[in-house]
Order: sequence, then structure tokens, then C-alpha cells
Amino acid sequence: MDILGIETSCDETAAAVVRDGHEVLSSIVYTQIPLHRPYGGVVPEIASRAHVEKISGIVREALSAAGKDGGAGVDAVAVTYGPGLASSLIVGLAAAKGIALALERPLICVNHIEAHLHSPFLQDAPILNSQFSIFNSQFPALGLVVSGGHTSWIDMPAVGRYKIIGQTLDDAAGEAFDKAAKLLGLGYPGGPVIDRLAKGFWNGVSDFTDAAALKALSYPDGIRLAPDMPVFPKGSPRPGTAALAGLDAGLCVSFSGLKTSLLRHVQKFPVADDDLPAKASLVAAYQEAIVGSLADRTRAALRRKPYKALVVGGGVSLNARLRSRLKEVADEAGVPIFTAQPKYCGDNAAMIAGLAFHHRRLEGDDALAADVDPSLEAGE
Ligand code: KG4
Ligand code: ZN
Repeated sequence: MDILGIETSCDETAAAVVRDGHEVLSSIVYTQIPLHRPYGGVVPEIASRAHVEKISGIVREALSAAGKDGGAGVDAVAVTYGPGLASSLIVGLAAAKGIALALERPLICVNHIEAHLHSPFLQDAPILNSQFSIFNSQFPALGLVVSGGHTSWIDMPAVGRYKIIGQTLDDAAGEAFDKAAKLLGLGYPGGPVIDRLAKGFWNGVSDFTDAAALKALSYPDGIRLAPDMPVFPKGSPRPGTAALAGLDAGLCVSFSGLKTSLLRHVQKFPVADDDLPAKASLVAAYQEAIVGSLADRTRAALRRKPYKALVVGGGVSLNARLRSRLKEVADEAGVPIFTAQPKYCGDNAAMIAGLAFHHRRLEGDDALAADVDPSLEAGE
């Protein structure tokens, strides 16, 4: 079954065609990052207008790259209907309804967070049949979604079943990266630049200006904060806090204090704008706090239930330091870790088309009559 997927929940306009839930025939992503960069974050009206402009061309490109010009051979249309920015979601949902009606194919609405947890199971065409079974045998699995808008630990007892067991009480992990980068004048989005500077710092480089060279480095083993580096809080919420909304404090995080503590630190010890080595040392310590906190909660969650796998998705899962800490935690628990190929970590439509094969939140007339749901949660 070949599904056309459409994704416009935030600042990426994306379309893809995926066969039988896993085999990516095409995946086109147009990122609006350069449009939002001058503002240091996503501007909703700019985002929705850019989606309107781009969506037709991106869909056409995805269909053509899959050998399905004009939609011939598409069996269903899938689209993100939440969570995300309302004005961005509306563009994708309206476009998907139009395409489904025109092609006389069913429409399937998918939850964006759940789709991030499908991204590790996407493979580029052509793939061997035997690889399809890998997905079905990983449940019950523990999911971790780490993106610009979300940080959640999700219990997945079976395919298509999701229950949030832990989450951030305020900022998402990606936001913690983005806000720190903004504070230090490092640009937007913050995750990639902080990752690069931290890599340079832990490798002891002296030139922090060559982004490509920094990106090519890997993190060395045995990373430990030196005594003269700041120790940022790992953001453990107090048990019993109302914000936990009944969730276990040991599986939740709070990142807003981390950002405040960075602000206090630079107010006390100002860093010159061109002092990249000083900024690199600061963000290296800051990243350790975020990564350590995510690793600790994941370890705790893996102890709650005999999970068969750890499944990680979202833009922050591009971070190599996070990947290696999570791998350690998964090894300790004796489970495999599934992370997505870099191109499927951030927002994309292949994860939407892939998940739609296994799990339909809304379909048929319900999907055609659906409104967007900006605050949809996993499992709803
Ligand atoms: O999943 P995503 O593309 O969009 C959302 O659904 O939010 O995630 C974007 C987030 C941004 O906050 C960005 O700073 C972060 O992912 N990010 C990273 C890295 N690359 C992107 N964070 C840490 N390290 C990275 N290498
Ligand atoms: Zn996302």
C-alpha cells in the first residue's frame, strides 16, 4: 500500500510517499528555517504563509520522485492534524483533504508525536521484505520524543498504542537548546550549533569558526565536567508538584530553571561576543545537563517495565552526545535502541505516511470532517 504523507505542523513543508509503512519511495522537506532565523524563533504567520506557497510544489515533487505523477497509484493520503501551530496545521490538512477528494482515495489523520516514534523504522527503497518484521517484534517499547516542542517518555505496549508516562513540565529539550543559543548570540536553531561547539570543546580544538570541521568531529569517550566548569541543574521536579498532573516525578523534567541558571551565570561572568572558546565551554556544560537529565529519566523509565526496545525520535535525537548516553542506558537495560536516520529525525512527511499504514487516528469521513488539534497529545 502506497501512502502519500503531508506534514506542515511547524516550520517544515513536507510530502512523502511510503510503501507498506516502512519503505520510503520519496521524501521531500522544505525547511523554513532561513525565513525565521532573523526573529530567533518560528513566527506563526510567516510559517503558514510559506506553507501555502510551497505545499503544491512539494507534493508534486514527492509524487514525481516516487514515480506517481498526478497521484496515480497512491492508495491513501495521510496528514498531521496535531499537535503544532494551528495556522500551519490548517494548510496541510486542507491540502490533504483536497488531494484525497480529487484522487478519490481515503484520508488518514495522524498524530505528529506518535509519528516521530515511527521514524526509526523508515528505510529507503528498495528494502528487503525480511526487514519489515523488525518493527512488529519490538513491543512493548519505551518511546522518547525529543524535539523543539516536545519532550515525552511514552509507553508503547503494542503497535499503535501510546501512553505518556513522563514529560517536561515546561520547556522542551529543543527549546532549552534554542533559548541558550539565543542568550549567547549563537543563532537559530540552537541545537546544531551547541552540538558543534560542544564537540569542539570536548576534543580540545582551538578554532571554533570552521562549522564543517566541528560537525565532522565525534565526541570522545570519558567526558567529565572539569572542576572549573559550571554545573547546571538537571531539572528534577519536586514530587507532589501540581504541574506533574499525576505523572511520576522521576520520569519528568523541568528545563526552565536550566536556562535561568545559564542567564545568571553569564550575568555574573560575562562572555565577550567573539569569545567562542568561552561560549563552547559553557554550552558543553549546559548540554551535559540536558543530556544527563534525559538519560536519567530514560534509565528510570526502562526499569518500570520489561521493555523490548528503546525508540527515540525528534530533532534533538540528532545530537550525538545524547545518542551515546542513551545507548549506554539501553545497553545497561539490555535492550536495543532505535534512532532514525538523520534526515528522518526532524520533521518530515515519511514518518506520517509510514505511521498511517499501522495506525489511523481518524480516517474516512471522520478525517474529511476533522479540524486541526494544536494541543493533541500522544495516545489521544
Ligand atoms: O523535531 P524538530 O525538527 O521539530 C519539532 O517538531 O520541534 O526539532 C527541532 C529541534 C530544535 O529545537 C533544534 O534546536 C533541535 O531540534 N536540534 C538539535 C540538534 N539538531 C536539531 N538539538 C540538539 N542537537 C542537535 N544536533
Ligand atoms: Zn516534530
